[in-house]
Amino acid sequence: MLTAVYPGSFDPVTAGHLDVIARAARTFDELVVAVGKNGGKAPFFTVEERVEMLREVCAPWPCVRVDAFEGMLVEYARECKAQVVVKGLRAVSDFEYEFQMALANRRLAPDVETLFMMTSAEHLYLSSSLVKEIARLGGEISSLVPPPVERRLRDRLRPQ
Ligand code: PNS
Repeated sequence: MLTAVYPGSFDPVTAGHLDVIARAARTFDELVVAVGKNGGKAPFFTVEERVEMLREVCAPWPCVRVDAFEGMLVEYARECKAQVVVKGLRAVSDFEYEFQMALANRRLAPDVETLFMMTSAEHLYLSSSLVKEIARLGGEISSLVPPPVERRLRDRLRPQ
């Protein structure tokens, strides 16, 4: 049984993340989509909200489980009995940071392999930050995020 962990902040999950999830779900027997609790950035959605949205949009894939984790990614991967950590790569700008993380993680846990998956070309520019900025400015985000995320973003940003 080949298990992979796909970690991220997912604040919120975008069409680009879903593209990677779809590819990874086809590749592994089990995929754990894991929301990291200890990111340095001030989050827009709580961990619980992010997990809830991910569970809703990942429901079509029976092999996908959504969870949250705290602490070291490689320790969490071992807890999940995952042999692989999946990371999405967009443009070259992602590479340096991801390369550093992958090498550090390999040093910490040589038994856990990091595997990079390219997002499809149409999502190359897409990020959670960009989606939040467009939503804040009242722009169209329906092709950038799944419907439950669009709804939540609109609700959150609606003037009170
Ligand atoms: O979507 P992001 O913000 O790039 O995701 C970041 C995440 C959660 C994957 C990253 O912060 C992470 O791996 N956190 C776990 C902490 C850890 O293991 N640090 C050591 C890595 S060298």
